[in-house]
Amino acid sequence: MKSSNSAAELERRRANARLGGGPERLEKQRREGRMTARERIDFLLDEGSFEELDPFVRHRCRDFGMQDQIFDGDGFVTGFGYIHGRLVYVFAQDFTVLGGSLSESNALKICKIMDMAMKNGAPVIGLNDSGGARIQEGVMSLAGYADIFLRNTLASGVVPQISAVLGPCAGGAVYSPALTDFIFMVDGTSHMFVTGPDVIRTVTHEEVSKEDLGGGMTHNATSGVAHFLAPSDAGCLRQIRRLLEFLPSNNRDEAPRRSTDDPIDRMDPALDSLVPEDSSQPYDIKDLISRVVDDGDFLEIHEHFARNIVIGLGRLAGQTVGIVANQPAVLAGCLDIDSSVKAARFVRFCDAFNIPILTFEDVPGFLPGLAQEFGGVIRHGAKLLYAYAEATVPKVTVITRKAYGGAYCVMGSKHLRTDINLAYPSAEIAVMGAEGAVNIVYRNELARASYPQQTREEKVQEFKEKFANPFVAAERGFIDDVILPRETRPRLVRALRMLENKVDSLPRKKHGNIPL
Ligand code: HXC
Repeated sequence: MKSSNSAAELERRRANARLGGGPERLEKQRREGRMTARERIDFLLDEGSFEELDPFVRHRCRDFGMQDQIFDGDGFVTGFGYIHGRLVYVFAQDFTVLGGSLSESNALKICKIMDMAMKNGAPVIGLNDSGGARIQEGVMSLAGYADIFLRNTLASGVVPQISAVLGPCAGGAVYSPALTDFIFMVDGTSHMFVTGPDVIRTVTHEEVSKEDLGGGMTHNATSGVAHFLAPSDAGCLRQIRRLLEFLPSNNRDEAPRRSTDDPIDRMDPALDSLVPEDSSQPYDIKDLISRVVDDGDFLEIHEHFARNIVIGLGRLAGQTVGIVANQPAVLAGCLDIDSSVKAARFVRFCDAFNIPILTFEDVPGFLPGLAQEFGGVIRHGAKLLYAYAEATVPKVTVITRKAYGGAYCVMGSKHLRTDINLAYPSAEIAVMGAEGAVNIVYRNELARASYPQQTREEKVQEFKEKFANPFVAAERGFIDDVILPRETRPRLVRALRMLENKVDSLPRKKHGNIPL
């Protein structure tokens, strides 16, 4: 008799926890095109694999009427499960319970699974939908967030941390994602801001809509805070599953290998004509990337931000590689503040998680201009230099065309201990383009009206002959070999295989001081 009562009580409690903020609020959330916290977890994980922890945790606040607003689980669903059969830890904030706000109690729930993730070496996925620190709890909720921030920071580079922002998120609900490796947003229903439109209107008298201030496209294209944009919750959760296919579970692990029918010695004659002969003509570097990686499968990251550089994940002979590539189709592939920061963070992610870095280089230099100089392009460009120099994973660079100036040094040059540096015959490796070089070196002569145009052209030609080819660098060994574009895939596969057991290290130190 007693046991059947206990079972009934257990079921009653479980049902209560599943109720969240009640049927009306759950229905409202669905009407707005958003899944509920539990629906999201079920959709994200392999079917039936979710094990919930702490469903009975309740908050302990008795102020401001909170004694009458007690929910089993306190609005956070936490636990573990599997994606493609691999362990992950997950939490989902339930906006229907007090706006998904963070209490002292549900902060402890998140900390519990983060500690487990660190011990057991598995990714943490946060499904954020929260108004931030629970206002009624004051410093207790702030302390809860700070406890999470600490764990986000300690877990950085140990296990992949992935955040989805799936509703209106403010305060700690945006700062915790900002400490993680990747942020996903949904177009139209996700918002992130530190202070919302009302506060901005009061303080700076600026008028801005919620969408323009903190919507999915704003953070994907303008601020660069978010890395992925999805059309719906379901699309977003599918994207997270796809990203995880490429990643190792922790920093001691290798990324999972995927078998492929794409031949490793596949030559591609179409590549021979992909880079235009005229070096001022643009082309889409993504065409090259997708022709080289296994099965044309390339997962672009930060697609909408700083489009003059392309970053993402692909595979070569089944092995995950991180790809960084200048994009000649946007701003001629120049490096600037945003592209440097975008690529630097990705290089560091790959290095932390044993993912080899493959660089395709076609860069005319750093973007000139007051906005860039005043914005600190020196400091931000240095981040990319630093990241490449520091990285000890296998590094392979292919110069497809221009490698000018400081950008030559930055983009995985031999001098930053890149292992294999290859160049196409179309490569031009120089301090700057021939026209610019003549304008500077012969400035005084050119200023004289009597200086013959023909002599100027001869000088330009001289610079072109000297530097508009890869051989000067190859003669020095800065380029290991000059290859035909068609050979790119087989040569890269062989290079990475050769580097499989690479060991490299950094001098003993607590940590470096990257120019932030
Ligand atoms: C307690 C909260 C809450 C919060 C929302 N709610 N945020 N309750 N603490 N932080 C409650 C609301 O009172 C409301 O309850 C319900 O959740 C739904 O909220 P709405 O405002 O109706 O929803 P919406 O219009 O969609 O607006 C969502 C929102 C807004 C943009 C998130 O609620 C908001 O601005 N909230 C406050 C954000 C904030 O300032 N948080 C503290 C940040 S400080 P009822 O019962 O009426 O439905 C922080 C510290 C971290 O997080 C430090 C970072 C470094």
